[in-house]
Amino acid sequence: MTTEPFAAVDVIVAKRDHCELSEAQIDWVVDAYTRGVVADEQMSALAMAILLNGMTGQEISRWTDAMIRSGERMDWSALDRPTADKHSTGGVGDKITLPLGPLVAACGVAVPQLSGRGLGHTGGTLDKLESIPGWRAALSNAEMLAQLRDVGAVICAAGSGLAPADKKLYALRDVTGTVEAIPLIASSIMSKKIAEGTGALVLDVKVGSGAFMKDAVRARELAETMVGLGDRAGVRTVALLTAMDTPLGRTAGNALEVEESVEVLAGGGPADVVALTLLLAREMLAAAGVDDVDPADRLADGSAMDAWRRMIAAQGGDPDAPHPRARETHVVPAPATGPLTRLDAYAVGVAAWRLGAGRARKEDPVSAGAGVVMHAKPGDAVTVGQPLLTLHTDEPTRFVRALQALEGGIEVGGATEALPLVLGRVTA
Ligand code: URA
Repeated sequence: MTTEPFAAVDVIVAKRDHCELSEAQIDWVVDAYTRGVVADEQMSALAMAILLNGMTGQEISRWTDAMIRSGERMDWSALDRPTADKHSTGGVGDKITLPLGPLVAACGVAVPQLSGRGLGHTGGTLDKLESIPGWRAALSNAEMLAQLRDVGAVICAAGSGLAPADKKLYALRDVTGTVEAIPLIASSIMSKKIAEGTGALVLDVKVGSGAFMKDAVRARELAETMVGLGDRAGVRTVALLTAMDTPLGRTAGNALEVEESVEVLAGGGPADVVALTLLLAREMLAAAGVDDVDPADRLADGSAMDAWRRMIAAQGGDPDAPHPRARETHVVPAPATGPLTRLDAYAVGVAAWRLGAGRARKEDPVSAGAGVVMHAKPGDAVTVGQPLLTLHTDEPTRFVRALQALEGGIEVGGATEALPLVLGRVTA
């Protein structure tokens, strides 16, 4: 029998009593939890103590490191180009990753992006891409490297070897009310991004009703914590705080968002999606040390679209296949005449989720065609009765609950209180 150097209960009591955990305690507890020696109930108690009492910068850094060391660390040094990635903390209609990866690749920086599936009211990048017939999310490391060489951009699922401690801990936090702890969120996100091996990282930290962080103060604290972790690990990291009080673009839903992303790559698309895509692309290029290319030119000359088509085809997808459509639609009319002053991101996100675009449990399937199309955005003038939203679903019984989600989320008249697209920028 191997002897463990610590008892889990002592580590829990130390954090409960506001003590700083030692590096040895952190290394051990993360490793022992991954090995199954620390039980779920013990890790739940520790996570709750961390949520209530916080962690010092030293502790967060060591915890992140221990999670990285629980699995493999990818390495793209064989590439002839710098690498950069973007991580969004998630929002409604946030399809930016789709045009952004190929756009940055078209500018000469490789994008090795490991993404996730959606849970709850925010969509997941893999769910969106899986609405493209034939496209597959699972790639081996060798396939990733080959695609980064040939195309310059990969968006795929993280394999089981990447930060396994985080996989186990995140699932536990989800069911123990401990997701919201900033040290745990920051270490969870950054352990995966650092292990992914990117040289530069741009974080898009969302603020507002449709975001994980509803208020700008906590969002900034999360951004500063993550930027500090990236910097200490040698990853050039920048964070933007961006608005998520209203959905991004005019669609929320898997295939609907792919369609909108293709419009952006074709030189059109909604102004907010184009603006944020270009802003994040410029940040990624600057963080990767590339300052002689304007991504707007790569959108205009079609090279970003070429990279998209090659990226989709390399993963088995048909970039020319028609986008799947839901079987049924229902139009929500404008309730009054005047300026649309509120279209709440959370309300639209929950509506899209209830229409079938999202899942309640990890194992649930999602509908490719379900979601919400927005015909007006805050600031636009609307006339009573004109189509404001179109709801899409395969199962018409879902309309009632989706409409309930929208109650109180739409306002016409009065002053617009929309957040600016960018609320702040955080650097090391
Ligand atoms: N996303 C993650 O990957 N981890 C968290 O803890 C929260 C959001």
